[in-house]
Amino acid sequence: MNVYAFRDIKPKISPDVAFIADDVVIIGDVEIDEGCTIFPGVVIEGLGTSIKIGKFTNIQSGTMIHGLHDSGTVIGEYNTIGHNCVIHGCTLKDLVTIGIGSIVMGETTIGRGSLVGAGSLITERKNFPDMSLILGHPAKLIKKLDEKAVDNAKKTAKLYYEHGLEFKKDLKKIS
Ligand SMILES: CC(C)(COP(=O)(O)OP(=O)(O)OC[C@H]1O[C@@H](n2cnc3c(N)ncnc32)[C@H](O)[C@@H]1OP(=O)(O)O)[C@@H](O)C(=O)NCCC(=O)NCCS
Repeated sequence: MNVYAFRDIKPKISPDVAFIADDVVIIGDVEIDEGCTIFPGVVIEGLGTSIKIGKFTNIQSGTMIHGLHDSGTVIGEYNTIGHNCVIHGCTLKDLVTIGIGSIVMGETTIGRGSLVGAGSLITERKNFPDMSLILGHPAKLIKKLDEKAVDNAKKTAKLYYEHGLEFKKDLKKIS
């Protein structure tokens, strides 16, 4: 991975992450907790603001995580962030799933156990309660999810943790 200090601020990466791909770029004020899996092509920029990623969260290929000057990004535990998302200066509580290709903009909070459908655009300063199904462009609260959906989110996050361990063990660069 490509880890950069920005001025005197260095990323803090748990030695117990599951897997971080070689080409991932991590800059500045970034904390990554144990059990996380970060797939190829992810960029995490903590420039002048902090980014925290909680344990057993997976960030899938091509996603960009950034902060705003007045508001960092906090991603909770057991989150699944799909491919090609933009996560920008917002708070995602625990057990949140962000569908493939979604954009979450600044100062927005997404409650515990929520699911954001693929291709959603979540505009600035929104506050979604726990266990929300959120869809659309711009995204809206569609309905409240049940505990089964939250269990599924945990299962999915655990599955990606297992994939991360497999990648750590079996991935070999061949050219
Ligand atoms: C939102 C989601 C969970 C719905 O799945 P589902 O319950 O199987 O729903 P269906 O596919 O039967 O669709 C139900 C309705 O929602 C609509 N819909 C489904 N996904 C949508 C999305 N992402 N955005 C907007 N509308 C969506 C469908 O068009 C359909 O509308 P209709 O009733 O008017 O025909 C799923 O489509 C999704 O986006 N999952 C995210 C998966 C992902 O990216 N995970 C991260 C990587 S692991």
